[in-house]
Amino acid sequence: MHDFLIRNALIFDGSDRAGVQGDVAINAGRIAAVGQLGDAPAAHVVDAQGLALAPGFIDVHTHDDLEVIRNPDMLSKLSQGVTTVVVGNCGISASPVQIRDQVPDPMNLLGDVEDFRYADFSSYRSAVELAGPAVNVAALVGHTALRQNHMDRLDRAASADEIIAMRAQLRDSLAQGALGLSSGLAYASAFSAPSSEVDALAAELPRNGLYATHLRDEFGGILDAMEEAFHAARAPQAAVRVSHLKCAGIDNWGRSGEVLASLHAASATQDVACDCYPYAASASTLDLKQVTDAFDILITWSEPEPGQGGRLLAAIAADWKVSLLDAAIRLQPAGAVYHGMDEADVRQILAHPLTMIGSDGLPRDPRPHPRLWGTFPRVLGHYARDEQLFPLHTAVHKMTGLPASRFAMGARGFIRAGWYADLVLFDPAQIRDTASFHDPIRAADGINAVWVNGCLSYDGKQVVARAGRFVCPEAAPAA
Ligand code: ZN
Ligand code: CU
Repeated sequence: MHDFLIRNALIFDGSDRAGVQGDVAINAGRIAAVGQLGDAPAAHVVDAQGLALAPGFIDVHTHDDLEVIRNPDMLSKLSQGVTTVVVGNCGISASPVQIRDQVPDPMNLLGDVEDFRYADFSSYRSAVELAGPAVNVAALVGHTALRQNHMDRLDRAASADEIIAMRAQLRDSLAQGALGLSSGLAYASAFSAPSSEVDALAAELPRNGLYATHLRDEFGGILDAMEEAFHAARAPQAAVRVSHLKCAGIDNWGRSGEVLASLHAASATQDVACDCYPYAASASTLDLKQVTDAFDILITWSEPEPGQGGRLLAAIAADWKVSLLDAAIRLQPAGAVYHGMDEADVRQILAHPLTMIGSDGLPRDPRPHPRLWGTFPRVLGHYARDEQLFPLHTAVHKMTGLPASRFAMGARGFIRAGWYADLVLFDPAQIRDTASFHDPIRAADGINAVWVNGCLSYDGKQVVARAGRFVCPEAAPAA
Protein backbone atom coordinates (compact mmCIF):
# COMPACT_ATOMS: atom_id res chain seq x y z
CA MET A 1 0.00 0.00 0.00
CA HIS A 2 1.59 3.27 -1.16
CA ASP A 3 1.12 6.59 0.61
CA PHE A 4 0.33 8.34 -2.68
CA LEU A 5 -0.26 7.32 -6.25
CA ILE A 6 -0.06 10.21 -8.71
CA ARG A 7 -1.67 9.04 -11.95
CA ASN A 8 -1.43 10.15 -15.59
CA ALA A 9 1.01 13.01 -15.08
CA LEU A 10 3.35 14.40 -17.71
CA ILE A 11 6.54 13.45 -15.89
CA PHE A 12 9.60 15.68 -16.25
CA ASP A 13 12.19 13.54 -14.50
CA GLY A 14 14.77 16.28 -13.89
CA SER A 15 17.00 15.38 -16.81
CA ASP A 16 16.98 17.63 -19.86
CA ARG A 17 14.58 15.28 -21.68
CA ALA A 18 10.99 15.74 -22.83
CA GLY A 19 8.23 14.74 -20.44
CA VAL A 20 6.69 11.26 -20.51
CA GLN A 21 3.14 10.35 -19.49
CA GLY A 22 3.04 8.06 -16.45
CA ASP A 23 2.38 7.40 -12.78
CA VAL A 24 4.50 7.91 -9.67
CA ALA A 25 4.04 6.14 -6.34
CA ILE A 26 5.31 7.54 -3.05
CA ASN A 27 6.02 5.49 0.02
CA ALA A 28 7.76 6.31 3.32
CA GLY A 29 9.32 9.50 2.05
CA ARG A 30 10.72 8.01 -1.14
CA ILE A 31 9.62 7.54 -4.72
CA ALA A 32 8.49 3.90 -4.68
CA ALA A 33 7.88 3.39 -8.39
CA VAL A 34 7.67 5.28 -11.69
CA GLY A 35 5.89 4.10 -14.86
CA GLN A 36 2.52 2.61 -15.75
CA LEU A 37 1.40 1.59 -12.28
CA GLY A 38 -2.28 0.84 -13.04
CA ASP A 39 -4.40 0.41 -9.94
CA ALA A 40 -1.56 -0.04 -7.47
CA PRO A 41 -3.12 0.31 -3.99
CA ALA A 42 -2.50 3.66 -2.31
CA ALA A 43 -3.91 5.62 0.62
CA HIS A 44 -4.33 8.66 -1.65
CA VAL A 45 -4.75 8.64 -5.41
CA VAL A 46 -4.13 11.91 -7.26
CA ASP A 47 -5.55 12.28 -10.77
CA ALA A 48 -2.91 14.35 -12.55
CA GLN A 49 -4.49 14.34 -16.00
CA GLY A 50 -3.35 17.47 -17.86
CA LEU A 51 -0.76 18.32 -15.19
CA ALA A 52 3.02 18.05 -15.07
CA LEU A 53 5.00 16.35 -12.30
CA ALA A 54 8.59 17.40 -11.66
CA PRO A 55 11.18 16.92 -8.93
CA GLY A 56 10.81 19.65 -6.30
CA PHE A 57 12.66 22.77 -7.33
CA ILE A 58 16.00 23.56 -5.74
CA ASP A 59 16.62 27.24 -5.01
CA VAL A 60 20.40 27.29 -5.12
CA HIS A 61 20.78 30.91 -4.16
CA THR A 62 18.88 32.15 -1.13
CA HIS A 63 19.22 34.27 1.95
CA ASP A 64 16.72 32.18 3.91
CA ASP A 65 19.25 31.31 6.65
CA LEU A 66 17.19 32.76 9.47
CA GLU A 67 13.86 32.75 7.64
CA VAL A 68 13.66 28.94 7.81
CA ILE A 69 13.76 29.34 11.60
CA ARG A 70 11.67 32.53 11.88
CA ASN A 71 8.94 31.49 9.40
CA PRO A 72 9.31 27.74 8.94
CA ASP A 73 6.20 27.55 6.74
CA MET A 74 8.31 29.07 3.96
CA LEU A 75 5.21 29.84 1.90
CA SER A 76 7.17 32.14 -0.42
CA LYS A 77 9.19 29.15 -1.61
CA LEU A 78 6.81 26.22 -1.19
CA SER A 79 4.14 28.05 -3.21
CA GLN A 80 6.60 28.14 -6.13
CA GLY A 81 7.29 24.41 -5.96
CA VAL A 82 10.62 24.89 -4.19
CA THR A 83 11.44 21.98 -1.87
CA THR A 84 15.12 22.73 -1.08
CA VAL A 85 16.92 26.01 -0.41
CA VAL A 86 20.65 26.66 -0.31
CA VAL A 87 21.37 29.33 2.30
CA GLY A 88 24.56 31.16 3.23
CA ASN A 89 25.19 32.86 -0.11
CA CYS A 90 27.03 36.07 -0.97
CA GLY A 91 29.52 35.70 1.87
CA ILE A 92 26.85 36.08 4.53
CA SER A 93 25.57 33.20 6.64
CA ALA A 94 23.78 32.76 9.97
CA SER A 95 26.58 30.56 11.24
CA PRO A 96 29.20 30.31 12.50
CA VAL A 97 28.64 33.84 13.74
CA GLN A 98 29.31 35.81 16.88
CA ILE A 99 28.32 39.46 16.56
CA ARG A 100 30.20 41.85 18.81
CA ASP A 101 28.07 44.98 18.53
CA GLN A 102 26.61 45.72 15.09
CA VAL A 103 25.58 43.46 12.25
CA PRO A 104 27.75 44.52 9.32
CA ASP A 105 26.23 45.28 5.92
CA PRO A 106 25.08 43.12 4.11
CA MET A 107 24.65 40.57 6.92
CA ASN A 108 21.81 42.84 8.05
CA LEU A 109 19.85 41.36 5.13
CA LEU A 110 19.56 38.17 7.19
CA GLY A 111 18.55 39.49 10.58
CA ASP A 112 19.20 41.72 13.58
CA VAL A 113 21.80 41.26 16.31
CA GLU A 114 19.50 39.09 18.42
CA ASP A 115 18.82 36.73 15.47
CA PHE A 116 22.48 35.72 15.18
CA ARG A 117 22.67 33.04 17.87
CA TYR A 118 24.70 30.32 16.24
CA ALA A 119 28.35 30.47 17.16
CA ASP A 120 29.05 27.20 15.37
CA PHE A 121 27.55 25.42 12.41
CA SER A 122 26.13 22.51 14.37
CA SER A 123 24.08 24.81 16.63
CA TYR A 124 22.58 26.39 13.50
CA ARG A 125 21.84 22.98 12.08
CA SER A 126 20.13 21.92 15.33
CA ALA A 127 18.07 25.12 15.36
CA VAL A 128 16.89 24.45 11.80
CA GLU A 129 16.00 20.89 12.71
CA LEU A 130 14.13 22.08 15.79
CA ALA A 131 12.20 24.71 13.80
CA GLY A 132 11.21 22.04 11.27
CA PRO A 133 10.90 24.13 8.10
CA ALA A 134 8.67 23.07 5.21
CA VAL A 135 11.64 22.92 2.83
CA ASN A 136 14.98 21.11 2.94
CA VAL A 137 17.93 23.31 3.87
CA ALA A 138 21.58 23.12 2.81
CA ALA A 139 23.98 25.77 4.08
CA LEU A 140 27.16 27.45 2.91
CA VAL A 141 29.50 29.30 5.26
CA GLY A 142 30.10 32.94 4.39
CA HIS A 143 33.53 34.48 4.07
CA THR A 144 32.20 37.82 5.34
CA ALA A 145 30.66 36.06 8.35
CA LEU A 146 34.05 34.52 9.16
CA ARG A 147 35.75 37.90 8.74
CA GLN A 148 33.39 39.59 11.15
CA ASN A 149 34.02 36.85 13.72
CA HIS A 150 37.75 37.40 13.76
CA MET A 151 38.50 40.95 12.62
CA ASP A 152 38.09 44.25 14.43
CA ARG A 153 37.32 46.02 11.15
CA LEU A 154 36.39 44.77 7.70
CA ASP A 155 37.97 47.42 5.50
CA ARG A 156 41.35 45.70 5.48
CA ALA A 157 42.95 42.37 4.61
CA ALA A 158 42.92 39.64 7.25
CA SER A 159 46.22 38.98 9.01
CA ALA A 160 47.92 35.59 8.89
CA ASP A 161 46.57 34.76 12.36
CA GLU A 162 43.07 35.83 11.44
CA ILE A 163 43.20 33.64 8.35
CA ILE A 164 44.26 30.68 10.50
CA ALA A 165 41.28 31.32 12.79
CA MET A 166 38.85 31.65 9.87
CA ARG A 167 40.19 28.49 8.28
CA ALA A 168 39.71 26.54 11.50
CA GLN A 169 36.12 27.72 11.76
CA LEU A 170 35.43 26.80 8.15
CA ARG A 171 37.05 23.39 8.61
CA ASP A 172 34.86 22.68 11.66
CA SER A 173 31.74 23.80 9.79
CA LEU A 174 32.51 21.53 6.86
CA ALA A 175 32.96 18.63 9.26
CA GLN A 176 29.55 19.50 10.76
CA GLY A 177 27.75 19.34 7.40
CA ALA A 178 28.27 22.68 5.67
CA LEU A 179 27.95 22.56 1.91
CA GLY A 180 30.94 24.80 1.24
CA LEU A 181 32.18 28.38 1.26
CA SER A 182 30.57 31.50 -0.15
CA SER A 183 31.93 34.98 -0.71
CA GLY A 184 30.56 38.44 -1.43
CA LEU A 185 33.67 40.24 -2.59
CA ALA A 186 31.82 43.19 -4.14
CA TYR A 187 30.58 44.33 -0.74
CA ALA A 188 32.64 46.78 1.30
CA SER A 189 32.78 44.22 4.12
CA ALA A 190 34.82 41.83 1.95
CA PHE A 191 36.19 43.97 -0.86
CA SER A 192 39.45 44.62 1.01
CA ALA A 193 40.16 40.91 1.19
CA PRO A 194 42.87 40.19 -1.36
CA SER A 195 42.62 37.12 -3.58
CA SER A 196 45.20 35.42 -1.40
CA GLU A 197 42.83 35.58 1.58
CA VAL A 198 40.08 33.89 -0.41
CA ASP A 199 42.54 31.34 -1.82
CA ALA A 200 43.61 30.42 1.71
CA LEU A 201 40.01 29.76 2.74
CA ALA A 202 39.17 27.86 -0.44
CA ALA A 203 42.16 25.65 0.32
CA GLU A 204 40.11 24.17 3.18
CA LEU A 205 37.53 22.84 0.74
CA PRO A 206 37.63 19.16 -0.11
CA ARG A 207 37.96 18.07 -3.72
CA ASN A 208 34.62 18.92 -5.43
CA GLY A 209 33.70 21.07 -2.41
CA LEU A 210 31.67 24.13 -3.26
CA TYR A 211 32.84 27.70 -3.60
CA ALA A 212 29.90 29.99 -4.41
CA THR A 213 30.80 33.59 -5.09
CA HIS A 214 29.15 36.92 -5.54
CA LEU A 215 31.94 38.22 -7.75
CA ARG A 216 34.19 41.10 -6.78
CA ASP A 217 32.94 42.95 -9.84
CA GLU A 218 29.74 42.42 -11.86
CA PHE A 219 30.40 45.56 -13.88
CA GLY A 220 33.30 46.38 -16.21
CA GLY A 221 35.79 44.15 -14.41
CA ILE A 222 33.66 41.02 -14.45
CA LEU A 223 36.04 38.84 -16.50
CA ASP A 224 38.90 39.44 -14.07
CA ALA A 225 36.55 38.76 -11.17
CA MET A 226 35.53 35.44 -12.73
CA GLU A 227 39.16 34.51 -13.23
CA GLU A 228 39.80 35.32 -9.57
CA ALA A 229 37.03 32.88 -8.60
CA PHE A 230 38.24 30.14 -10.93
CA HIS A 231 41.76 30.57 -9.61
CA ALA A 232 40.71 30.18 -5.96
CA ALA A 233 39.14 26.79 -6.69
CA ARG A 234 41.89 25.39 -8.90
CA ALA A 235 44.43 24.17 -6.34
CA PRO A 236 41.88 22.46 -4.06
CA GLN A 237 39.97 21.19 -7.15
CA ALA A 238 36.83 22.71 -5.71
CA ALA A 239 33.73 23.60 -7.72
CA VAL A 240 32.92 27.23 -8.54
CA ARG A 241 29.34 28.47 -8.55
CA VAL A 242 29.14 32.03 -9.81
CA SER A 243 26.20 33.58 -8.01
CA HIS A 244 23.49 35.57 -9.82
CA LEU A 245 25.59 35.94 -12.95
CA LYS A 246 24.77 39.20 -14.69
CA CYS A 247 26.17 42.08 -16.70
CA ALA A 248 25.51 44.96 -14.35
CA GLY A 249 25.45 48.62 -15.33
CA ILE A 250 24.69 50.17 -18.71
CA ASP A 251 28.37 50.28 -19.73
CA ASN A 252 28.47 46.52 -19.30
CA TRP A 253 25.34 45.68 -21.28
CA GLY A 254 25.71 43.31 -24.19
CA ARG A 255 28.67 41.46 -22.69
CA SER A 256 26.87 38.25 -21.69
CA GLY A 257 28.40 36.45 -24.68
CA GLU A 258 31.95 37.15 -23.47
CA VAL A 259 31.07 36.35 -19.89
CA LEU A 260 29.49 33.02 -20.81
CA ALA A 261 32.41 32.21 -23.10
CA SER A 262 34.73 32.63 -20.11
CA LEU A 263 32.54 30.33 -17.99
CA HIS A 264 32.40 27.78 -20.78
CA ALA A 265 36.17 27.91 -21.33
CA ALA A 266 36.85 27.33 -17.63
CA SER A 267 34.43 24.39 -17.63
CA ALA A 268 36.84 22.45 -19.83
CA THR A 269 39.34 22.13 -16.98
CA GLN A 270 37.36 22.62 -13.76
CA ASP A 271 33.85 22.27 -12.39
CA VAL A 272 32.21 25.67 -12.87
CA ALA A 273 28.58 26.72 -13.21
CA CYS A 274 26.37 29.66 -12.30
CA ASP A 275 22.95 30.65 -11.11
CA CYS A 276 20.66 33.40 -12.33
CA TYR A 277 17.29 34.93 -11.44
CA PRO A 278 14.83 35.74 -14.23
CA TYR A 279 14.63 39.52 -13.93
CA ALA A 280 16.54 42.47 -15.38
CA ALA A 281 16.75 44.14 -11.97
CA SER A 282 18.92 43.31 -8.97
CA ALA A 283 18.32 43.99 -5.28
CA SER A 284 20.40 44.33 -2.16
CA THR A 285 21.28 46.90 0.45
CA LEU A 286 21.57 50.42 -0.96
CA ASP A 287 25.14 50.72 -2.22
CA LEU A 288 26.50 54.23 -2.74
CA LYS A 289 28.81 52.92 -5.47
CA GLN A 290 25.79 51.83 -7.49
CA VAL A 291 23.92 55.13 -7.28
CA THR A 292 23.38 56.44 -10.81
CA ASP A 293 20.82 58.29 -12.91
CA ALA A 294 21.30 55.81 -15.77
CA PHE A 295 18.41 53.60 -14.61
CA ASP A 296 15.66 53.50 -11.96
CA ILE A 297 16.58 52.67 -8.37
CA LEU A 298 13.62 51.71 -6.18
CA ILE A 299 14.08 52.12 -2.42
CA THR A 300 12.48 49.11 -0.67
CA TRP A 301 13.24 50.04 2.94
CA SER A 302 15.16 52.65 4.91
CA GLU A 303 15.92 52.55 8.58
CA PRO A 304 15.97 56.33 9.17
CA GLU A 305 13.28 57.09 6.53
CA PRO A 306 10.81 54.18 6.58
CA GLY A 307 8.17 56.28 4.80
CA GLN A 308 10.30 56.36 1.64
CA GLY A 309 10.07 52.60 1.08
CA GLY A 310 8.44 51.90 -2.30
CA ARG A 311 9.58 55.17 -3.91
CA LEU A 312 12.18 55.84 -6.57
CA LEU A 313 15.46 57.32 -5.37
CA ALA A 314 15.15 60.05 -8.03
CA ALA A 315 11.74 61.12 -6.70
CA ILE A 316 13.03 61.19 -3.13
CA ALA A 317 16.05 63.26 -4.16
CA ALA A 318 13.80 65.67 -6.08
CA ASP A 319 11.52 66.10 -3.04
CA TRP A 320 14.46 66.75 -0.80
CA LYS A 321 16.15 68.97 -3.43
CA VAL A 322 19.43 67.08 -3.05
CA SER A 323 21.58 64.94 -5.35
CA LEU A 324 20.88 61.22 -5.76
CA LEU A 325 24.00 60.46 -3.77
CA ASP A 326 23.05 62.78 -0.90
CA ALA A 327 19.59 61.29 -0.80
CA ALA A 328 21.09 57.79 -0.73
CA ILE A 329 23.40 58.73 2.14
CA ARG A 330 20.45 60.09 4.12
CA LEU A 331 18.43 56.88 3.49
CA GLN A 332 21.10 54.48 4.72
CA PRO A 333 20.94 51.81 5.95
CA ALA A 334 18.44 50.95 3.25
CA GLY A 335 17.46 48.40 0.64
CA ALA A 336 17.14 48.97 -3.09
CA VAL A 337 16.12 47.44 -6.40
CA TYR A 338 18.37 48.45 -9.30
CA HIS A 339 16.93 48.21 -12.80
CA GLY A 340 20.46 47.89 -14.11
CA MET A 341 20.46 44.92 -16.50
CA ASP A 342 19.68 44.40 -20.14
CA GLU A 343 16.90 41.91 -20.90
CA ALA A 344 18.90 40.37 -23.76
CA ASP A 345 21.79 39.58 -21.37
CA VAL A 346 19.41 38.09 -18.82
CA ARG A 347 17.94 35.78 -21.48
CA GLN A 348 21.29 34.70 -22.81
CA ILE A 349 22.57 33.85 -19.33
CA LEU A 350 19.35 32.05 -18.33
CA ALA A 351 19.49 29.92 -21.46
CA HIS A 352 23.10 28.78 -21.04
CA PRO A 353 23.48 25.07 -20.24
CA LEU A 354 25.65 25.82 -17.17
CA THR A 355 23.01 28.12 -15.67
CA MET A 356 20.80 27.02 -12.78
CA ILE A 357 17.96 28.97 -11.21
CA GLY A 358 18.45 30.77 -7.91
CA SER A 359 16.04 33.36 -6.56
CA ASP A 360 18.38 35.49 -4.43
CA GLY A 361 15.13 36.49 -2.70
CA LEU A 362 15.36 38.73 0.36
CA PRO A 363 12.73 37.50 2.82
CA ARG A 364 13.17 40.27 5.39
CA ASP A 365 12.58 43.07 2.92
CA PRO A 366 9.14 44.64 3.51
CA ARG A 367 8.90 45.27 -0.26
CA PRO A 368 11.01 42.46 -1.61
CA HIS A 369 12.15 42.16 -5.19
CA PRO A 370 9.47 39.93 -6.80
CA ARG A 371 12.06 37.21 -7.33
CA LEU A 372 11.37 36.10 -3.74
CA TRP A 373 7.87 34.86 -4.67
CA GLY A 374 8.09 34.58 -8.45
CA THR A 375 11.39 33.18 -9.69
CA PHE A 376 10.54 29.55 -10.49
CA PRO A 377 7.04 30.05 -11.98
CA ARG A 378 8.46 32.93 -14.01
CA VAL A 379 11.12 30.72 -15.60
CA LEU A 380 8.53 28.00 -16.35
CA GLY A 381 5.63 30.23 -17.41
CA HIS A 382 7.04 33.43 -18.78
CA TYR A 383 10.40 32.37 -20.18
CA ALA A 384 9.83 28.73 -21.19
CA ARG A 385 6.13 28.59 -22.17
CA ASP A 386 5.34 32.15 -23.26
CA GLU A 387 8.67 33.38 -24.60
CA GLN A 388 9.93 29.93 -25.66
CA LEU A 389 13.43 30.77 -24.49
CA PHE A 390 13.94 27.02 -23.93
CA PRO A 391 11.66 23.96 -23.67
CA LEU A 392 9.79 23.30 -20.46
CA HIS A 393 11.90 20.23 -19.71
CA THR A 394 15.04 22.35 -19.91
CA ALA A 395 13.52 24.85 -17.49
CA VAL A 396 12.74 22.01 -15.10
CA HIS A 397 16.26 20.60 -15.48
CA LYS A 398 17.79 23.98 -14.55
CA MET A 399 15.91 23.89 -11.24
CA THR A 400 16.12 20.16 -10.41
CA GLY A 401 18.58 17.63 -11.83
CA LEU A 402 21.24 20.18 -12.73
CA PRO A 403 21.41 21.90 -9.32
CA ALA A 404 21.05 18.60 -7.44
CA SER A 405 24.12 17.21 -9.14
CA ARG A 406 26.04 20.51 -8.99
CA PHE A 407 25.26 21.12 -5.31
CA ALA A 408 25.92 17.60 -3.97
CA MET A 409 22.31 16.88 -3.03
CA GLY A 410 22.53 13.10 -3.07
CA ALA A 411 19.29 11.31 -4.07
CA ARG A 412 17.34 14.47 -4.93
CA GLY A 413 16.57 16.38 -8.11
CA PHE A 414 15.35 13.47 -10.24
CA ILE A 415 12.20 11.36 -10.32
CA ARG A 416 13.69 7.91 -9.86
CA ALA A 417 12.61 4.93 -7.82
CA GLY A 418 14.32 4.99 -4.42
CA TRP A 419 15.03 8.71 -4.49
CA TYR A 420 13.53 11.23 -2.07
CA ALA A 421 9.95 12.11 -2.90
CA ASP A 422 10.41 15.87 -3.33
CA LEU A 423 7.82 16.55 -6.03
CA VAL A 424 5.81 19.37 -7.55
CA LEU A 425 2.58 18.97 -9.52
CA PHE A 426 1.85 21.97 -11.73
CA ASP A 427 -0.28 23.04 -14.64
CA PRO A 428 2.00 23.82 -17.56
CA ALA A 429 -0.71 25.90 -19.22
CA GLN A 430 -1.47 27.99 -16.12
CA ILE A 431 1.79 28.36 -14.26
CA ARG A 432 2.87 31.96 -13.94
CA ASP A 433 4.42 34.40 -11.49
CA THR A 434 2.07 37.05 -10.16
CA ALA A 435 4.47 38.97 -7.91
CA SER A 436 5.52 42.31 -9.40
CA PHE A 437 7.75 45.17 -8.35
CA HIS A 438 4.69 47.08 -7.16
CA ASP A 439 2.86 44.11 -5.64
CA PRO A 440 5.67 41.73 -4.72
CA ILE A 441 4.17 39.44 -2.07
CA ARG A 442 1.96 37.17 -4.16
CA ALA A 443 1.93 33.41 -4.58
CA ALA A 444 2.23 32.04 -8.10
CA ASP A 445 -0.62 30.56 -10.11
CA GLY A 446 -0.56 27.01 -11.41
CA ILE A 447 1.16 25.09 -8.61
CA ASN A 448 -1.27 22.32 -7.64
CA ALA A 449 0.62 20.35 -5.00
CA VAL A 450 4.08 20.00 -3.49
CA TRP A 451 5.51 17.02 -1.64
CA VAL A 452 8.61 17.27 0.53
CA ASN A 453 10.20 14.00 1.63
CA GLY A 454 6.99 12.21 0.68
CA CYS A 455 4.69 14.51 2.70
CA LEU A 456 2.03 16.52 0.93
CA SER A 457 3.19 19.97 2.07
CA TYR A 458 1.37 22.50 -0.14
CA ASP A 459 -2.11 21.91 -1.54
CA GLY A 460 -2.17 24.78 -4.02
CA LYS A 461 -3.42 27.24 -1.43
CA GLN A 462 -1.64 26.76 1.84
CA VAL A 463 1.11 24.97 3.70
CA VAL A 464 -0.31 21.71 5.07
CA ALA A 465 2.84 20.06 6.46
CA ARG A 466 6.45 20.87 7.29
CA ALA A 467 8.69 17.97 6.37
CA GLY A 468 11.96 19.61 5.36
CA ARG A 469 15.31 18.22 6.47
CA PHE A 470 18.79 19.54 6.88
CA VAL A 471 20.77 18.39 3.84
CA CYS A 472 24.50 17.73 4.04
CA PRO A 473 26.65 17.35 0.94
CA GLU A 474 26.36 13.88 -0.52
CA ALA A 475 27.18 12.32 -3.86
CA ALA A 476 24.28 11.05 -5.97
CA PRO A 477 23.66 7.30 -5.73
CA ALA A 478 24.97 5.30 -8.69
CA ALA A 479 22.28 5.17 -11.37
ZN1 ZN B 1 24.95 38.39 -4.01
CU1 CU C 1 22.67 36.75 -2.82
